Amino acid sequence: MEFSIKSGSPEKQRTACIVVGVCEPRKLTTAAKAIDSASKKYLSNLIRRGDIEGKLGQSLLLHNVPGMLCDRVLLVGCGKERDLDERQYRKIIENSIKQLNTTGANDAVSYLSELNVKGRDHNWKISRAVEFTNHVLYEFKEFKSKNKRSTKTLKKITLTVPSRRELPSGDKAAKIGNSLSKGVKLARDLGNRPANVCTPSYLASQAQQLAKTYKTLKVKVLDEAAMKKLEMNSLLSVSRGSAEPAKLITFEYYGGKKDSKPVVLVGKGVTFDTGGISIKPSPAMDEMKYDMCGAASVFGTMSAIADMGLPVNVVGVVPAVENMPSSTATKPGDIFTSMSGQTIEVLNTDAEGRLILCDALSYSERFNPAAVVDIATLTGACVMALGSHATGLLSNHNPLAKDLLNAGETAGDRAWQLPLWDEYQQQIDSPFADMANIGGREAGTITAACFLSRFTKKFHWAHLDIAGTAWISGKNKCATGRPVSLLTQYLLDHAE
Ligand code: BES
Ligand code: MN
Ligand code: ZN
Repeated sequence: MEFSIKSGSPEKQRTACIVVGVCEPRKLTTAAKAIDSASKKYLSNLIRRGDIEGKLGQSLLLHNVPGMLCDRVLLVGCGKERDLDERQYRKIIENSIKQLNTTGANDAVSYLSELNVKGRDHNWKISRAVEFTNHVLYEFKEFKSKNKRSTKTLKKITLTVPSRRELPSGDKAAKIGNSLSKGVKLARDLGNRPANVCTPSYLASQAQQLAKTYKTLKVKVLDEAAMKKLEMNSLLSVSRGSAEPAKLITFEYYGGKKDSKPVVLVGKGVTFDTGGISIKPSPAMDEMKYDMCGAASVFGTMSAIADMGLPVNVVGVVPAVENMPSSTATKPGDIFTSMSGQTIEVLNTDAEGRLILCDALSYSERFNPAAVVDIATLTGACVMALGSHATGLLSNHNPLAKDLLNAGETAGDRAWQLPLWDEYQQQIDSPFADMANIGGREAGTITAACFLSRFTKKFHWAHLDIAGTAWISGKNKCATGRPVSLLTQYLLDHAE
């Protein structure tokens, strides 16, 4: 979708549709009042007749409103003004776009970015409006044979700011929203692609493609021989059973000061997780194509910051593997020496995410990181604990955890912290190796993080468990692009 920023009153706009809010109960917003006076009380009369209460989710499409230069006016219910927080704003924007899409309008001028959202400024409202709009309009039709032509006609949306003074900052905010949207779309597309297409080699080639689009992005791909030299035996133990060779992809983006240490993002890239010899049950196993959504979020975030030209230093590390059972696959009880030198007894081959992440985390040391954040669809236990609304967050450095939690609030892509206390560490003791790769039935998300914490002692580190948030199940099954928005916001905050 194409966006632009404008100021000026609604009665002067020549457009296919003007979008304005009505709050509950029957309260016209500023822009709606302007239309009301230009149209000699057309709106207040209609509201008096009870056609729209202003409830969230309501809408009313009007044609030929007197005194207006536009073809249509779309009234959008905004709910109670004093409840208007980030989530309500998102619903308002989403509803307005869904309604607009059912009309024949090619373009629209929306005044919804002038609503008062508690604690949020204009820039926030503009960039989020761009992000939320692109998010609801997303479709994944790459694998539909008859490219069912979309009947949607909406091409361009103009967002408004109250005066000319806000135009430059509004433009900048729209650009940020646009770059972010592209990153989110990339993450969703990669997630949605089936595992017979989206293999570790495919991810590597997509990374190289991204480096062609953005000259500021440097990409390197290590093959299995190179990983063997680095003694990444834990990572390689996972891909042993697969015909698809493992890849270690790194992105380097140095947009910040020469001497400032980079933030390193490490994303779990299991392109399909069968569980290996500890094979998963069949129902819903198709969803394990999404087990590379952590990796996809690193792709999306790297793309977003490169598109913005953000002044920060960021490195992305993506261990990419396929987890399959076969005669060469790892067996329960097998022991491997990780890159760190610590030995691991693999009691369950389905706890493979931590096995690839631990070597990727050790590898991150070489970038001399300011902080390392890993992102992984790591545990079913996280879905049990937090459901699909919050990403799980665990960290060895509280200020880093707070920054990420805050970024999640701003982005509407929230995380919730779980404890990483020492008491949990003993659950992954092994009689044979330095540690086991599973910690029993209790606190599965925490013991998985405990495992990772043994490889992150040399830097500030946070772990994001996105098992519940990376995609939605059911008949509208789709990757969400989470947590690209959180990560990009964290880097935007970090750049200041
Ligand atoms: N990729 C899965 C985690 C997962 C499961 C994410 C379902 C989203 C939905 C991970 O590799 C896994 O299998 N984890 C195991 C760990 C267990 C064996 C300790 C799990 O959560 O069951
Ligand atoms: Mn698994
Ligand atoms: Zn997995």
